[in-house]
Amino acid sequence: MSLKKIVAFFISALTLQTVMADTTVGIHSPNNLLHLSVVQNNEGVVTYQLSFKNKAVLLPSSLGFKLSKPAVDLNRFTITGIDSSATDQTWKPVWGEESNIRNNYKELKIALLHKASGITINMVFRVFNEGLGFRYEFLKQDNLNYFIIDQEYTTFAMAGDHKTFWIPGDFDTNEYAYNTSTLSNVNAKVQLNAQEIATRTAFSDDAVQTPLMMKTNDGLYINIHEAALSNYPAMDLQINKKQLQLQAMLVPDALGNKAYLQAPAHTPWRTVNVSDRAGDILLSRMILNLNEPSVVANPSWIKPQKFVGVWWEMHVGIASWDYSGSQVASQEKTKVRHGANTANVKRYIDFAAANGIDGVLVEGWNTGWEDWFGNWKEDVFDFVTPYPDFDVQALSDYAKSKGVKIIMHHETSGSATNYERWMDTAYRFMKKYNYDAVKTGYVGNIIPRGEHHDGQWMVRHYERVAKKTSDYKIMVDMHEPVRPTGLHRTYPNWLACEAARGNEFNAWSIGNMPEHETILPFTRLMGGPMDYTPGIFKIKRSFYDSTKTEQVHTTLTKQLALYVTLYSPLQMAADLPENYNAHMDAFQFIKDVAVDWDKTEILDAEPGDFIIAARKAKGSEKWFIGAITDENARSLNASLSFLDKDKKYMATIYRDADNADWKNNPEAYVIEKVLVDAKTVLKLKLAPGGGTAISITPVLIGKRKD
Ligand code: NOJ
Ligand code: CA
Repeated sequence: MSLKKIVAFFISALTLQTVMADTTVGIHSPNNLLHLSVVQNNEGVVTYQLSFKNKAVLLPSSLGFKLSKPAVDLNRFTITGIDSSATDQTWKPVWGEESNIRNNYKELKIALLHKASGITINMVFRVFNEGLGFRYEFLKQDNLNYFIIDQEYTTFAMAGDHKTFWIPGDFDTNEYAYNTSTLSNVNAKVQLNAQEIATRTAFSDDAVQTPLMMKTNDGLYINIHEAALSNYPAMDLQINKKQLQLQAMLVPDALGNKAYLQAPAHTPWRTVNVSDRAGDILLSRMILNLNEPSVVANPSWIKPQKFVGVWWEMHVGIASWDYSGSQVASQEKTKVRHGANTANVKRYIDFAAANGIDGVLVEGWNTGWEDWFGNWKEDVFDFVTPYPDFDVQALSDYAKSKGVKIIMHHETSGSATNYERWMDTAYRFMKKYNYDAVKTGYVGNIIPRGEHHDGQWMVRHYERVAKKTSDYKIMVDMHEPVRPTGLHRTYPNWLACEAARGNEFNAWSIGNMPEHETILPFTRLMGGPMDYTPGIFKIKRSFYDSTKTEQVHTTLTKQLALYVTLYSPLQMAADLPENYNAHMDAFQFIKDVAVDWDKTEILDAEPGDFIIAARKAKGSEKWFIGAITDENARSLNASLSFLDKDKKYMATIYRDADNADWKNNPEAYVIEKVLVDAKTVLKLKLAPGGGTAISITPVLIGKRKD
């Protein structure tokens, strides 16, 4: 951990004014471009507002709580103290998009007393060059230290009817396609598709989830999310369409309460990222900076990695999870072979070993899949009993002999209490058979009493799993958890989450439209890496069954580019070995691409349209570029000015063929090699729904000996 420098902050930099009866406290970002002011009016109501380059980002916005225990409205305060400080430090994440992260902010702390109840809270604001984070701290009180929150009064008052990339408010799932509309036109009923409406736990048609990405008419990019969500429910946002205010809407528990706090306690950080360049939103590390440092003292066992898996074959319906062969993803009752049989798993292990892939995920290896879905049954899985055709010992030995790790799968079918009962036993079982990574899942209702996936109770559960897996030196990838908020800084063994609509939807639903992956980094990925499962080469499901019309909504080379544009330290090569064997030249990119980085550059980006990202592999001189587009063909320039000026490089370009497009000709690609250097500007031509992936390797130019 690098030197922590807390610079004493001079009161002269803090603007404190009393105009009429209002008290205003102001603070600037380190580069002075952002300005936060907190205003207390003569009735004691405290609001905050934010500007960037003198443009309003947030108009005066509310703060406070309605408590049900004790039953008080915490919305009028006496200011009992104001404090400020500045921090500028650099730290090294265990893995990430950068090997050094700068944490540079000014902090303003305001102590507030609610006179009627005697409750004291601190409002803590941190202003970074790229945005604002703030949270409420409930201090240890003289009398009562137990609070039940009924409502958080936090609002974000937007300065205009911004263009918004949104998914509807939902307490249980974020597996939606993104919609684009102005804030005042957000309407889940009108804009969702039939499948989404059918599975949604709706509470409002005017609510949205975070990370919420917006663009203003005058070119500002604004992102609202939260950081360090721990022991508190997730926050959805209810839109007041007249005032264009976003009101915090905390996910309730099964009884309707929002949060139970035992002081001292604090809320997560509410975050507002701002920039006039879209790429800067993607480069912001503010959310990570607002999280606590790693709890893992010696993280050498934590390994960013690629994996293949007995998985896509179930999603496209040619294999089943259950032994008897009736459970495929689409819930079709066709009888198919059980995927997790010893011979098939060996085939994947062989493929991984032959291609330098670290892991093999195996789903459907354990008993319970006959009866796992939608039945409120508490104990369908025990996480330690293999099906008779999955030879756990033989496979463990085989994987070891090939230098490959099998990745465990723990589908909990929403039965979180059952999982907590089994965790120790299940992790000991993993260690015995040499597994050191697990993919968990929470499909269906949360059992036993219908908590929500995104409520405080489950938020605590996910963190408990992250902590316990780290105690066992196990890496974890969670499917269907609450969306991430940067906790992977604290638990670096928590490599990835799903928590959004992954590539799997392309196998068995109307799928993810070509713009989907151009929005994800600006929304879901703001909180942390996603296990999106890219790398599908057989784009159309009709390849397996001529009656099927589902398909991946990208070209093949866009699937390659996703390894760079969708950051994750855990990347699946999701297609079947035989499909890769048929395109080994294109698979070479997946073999080569890194999963851990020294540096990231966003060459250009626009949410909903395109992204070009370049990343330098950790501890290496190799660079990788991913460029992706939405449904429109696009020509993009990639300037390679980030390369070392004194070196020459070989670029291997995996691009869409001239006649490729995601719908009619998705698998047509061209691979070219060109010599490049820091002066090169590559002209990239992306097909509709297409992409380009490039690997760039230094070449040694031999010196002439004459
Ligand atoms: C949903 C997950 O997202 C998917 O990856 C998994 O295969 C199924 N649940 C079964 O656990
Ligand atoms: Ca899922």
